[in-house]
Amino acid sequence: MSDTWQLCTSCGSEIPESDPHPRCPRCRGLLEVRHRPPAQGGAALRATFDARWGVRQGVLASGVWRYREAVLPSAPPQDVLCYPEGNTPLLTSPAVARWAGPTGLLLKHEGHNPTGSFKDRGMTVGVTQARRIGARAVACASTGNTAAALAAYAALGGLPALVLVPKGHVALGKLAQALAYGARTLLVRGNFDQCLELADQASDRLGVYLLNSVNPFRLEGQKTIVLELLQQLAWQPPDWIVVPAGNLGNTAAFGKALAEACEWGLIDRVPRLAAVQAEGAAPFALSFREGFARRHRVEPHTVATAIQIGNPVSYDRAVRAVRDTKGVVIAVTDDEILEAKAVVDGAGIGCEPASAAAIAGTRRLGRDGVIKAGERVVAILTGHVLKDPASVTYYHMERDPAPPHANRPVEIDPHLDDVERAMKR
Ligand code: F0G
Repeated sequence: MSDTWQLCTSCGSEIPESDPHPRCPRCRGLLEVRHRPPAQGGAALRATFDARWGVRQGVLASGVWRYREAVLPSAPPQDVLCYPEGNTPLLTSPAVARWAGPTGLLLKHEGHNPTGSFKDRGMTVGVTQARRIGARAVACASTGNTAAALAAYAALGGLPALVLVPKGHVALGKLAQALAYGARTLLVRGNFDQCLELADQASDRLGVYLLNSVNPFRLEGQKTIVLELLQQLAWQPPDWIVVPAGNLGNTAAFGKALAEACEWGLIDRVPRLAAVQAEGAAPFALSFREGFARRHRVEPHTVATAIQIGNPVSYDRAVRAVRDTKGVVIAVTDDEILEAKAVVDGAGIGCEPASAAAIAGTRRLGRDGVIKAGERVVAILTGHVLKDPASVTYYHMERDPAPPHANRPVEIDPHLDDVERAMKR
C-alpha cells in the first residue's frame, strides 16, 4: 500500500487510492480515504502550513491544497485542478452574536468560495481525482450547490458533467450556475434522495465518476474548512463548531478532520460538533434523540432547500463524528431559520437559508444551556446570500403579516416629495 489508500467502513477492505468505484467494490459500503500520518510531528506540520499562509500563486495559494498532506499528498501539483478556493474569512458581527447568544461568535463564511459555497473545497479534490483515474465524465445528484460546483470544476477541467436535481426544489442561483457552466442538467420529478439513488445507478451503468459526498475524496477537501479555521485561530481550538446538516458529508468530514488533527498533533483538544437540521428534514436529529439506536428516513420539507434531505448518505460516518466529538444534533424550525437569516443578512454578511440554520441552532443551544456562557463558538455559513434570492424577496416582500426583520420596499411615483416622505417614514 502507498501512503494513501481507501478503506471500506463496512467490510474493512483496503483498496488502492486509484480505484474508481465511489463505494466499496466488494460490499458497496462507504469508503474512507486513509493517510499514513505525516513523518513530521504536529509542530513541524503546523509550521509547514503556516509557512504557506499568504502564498499568492499556484496550487499552494488554495485554502484546500495548503493542507495537501492531509488531503491528497500523492497528487502532483501539475495534476491539481483549482481556482484557487478556500481562504474564506472568519468574521465577527456584534449584531449576529447579540441575537445568537455567544459573545465573540465567529462566522466562517464558506459563501466566499468561487461558486459561492463550501462545495468547491470538496470538488477541487473530487475533480482532480476524476482526472487522475481517467474518468470520461463526472456526475452528481444535488440540492443545487454540489451541482454548481461540479459544473464549474468540470468545465475548468474540460470534463463533461451530468447533474440530477429535484425539479422545483433548487434555488434559482444554483440552477442558473449549473446551466451557465454547461452541465447536462436533469430536472428530476422527485426529491433529492431519489436523485441520488438514480445518480448512483447511472454512474454504474454509464461509467461516469460519481462526485456526491458518497465519494470519499470530496470529504478530504471539505476537511479543510476545519483545518483552515483552526489555523485562523492560531491552532487554538474553539469549544464548539456548529454546522448545518443535510446529507451529512460535512459533519462526517469535520469529525475526520478533528480526529486526524488530534492524532497528528496539530491540536491537543477536540471541539464539540453541533449538527443542525431543519425540523421538516431531521432524520439525523431523530436518531440522535434515540442514542442512534436506529436510522430514520423522512419525507423532507423545509424552506432551506439545500438541506431538504430525508435519507442522508453519510449517516454512519456522521454518527462516528458526533460520538467522537461528544457532539449534539438538533433541529430548528423554518421560522427560526428565516429569522436567523434575516439577522445575518441585515448585518451585511448574508447567507442562504441552510447556512442560517447554524445560527438558529447556536441560539437554541445557548438557550437550552448546552452551549455555556463564555464558550468559544464558530458557526459555519455554508453558502452565499445570492444563491437563493427568492427566499429573500419572499421574507421581505411577500410574507403577511410582515415578519420581525422584514425590510419592505416602498413603491413611489417619480416625484421628489415621494422620496422625502419615504425617507421620513
Ligand atoms: N449548506 C448548504 C448551503 C448546502 O448546500 C448543503 C448541502 C448543506 C449545508 C449540508 O451539507 O449535505 O454535507 O450535510 N448541499 C448538498 C448539495 C446536498 O447537493 O448541494 P451536508
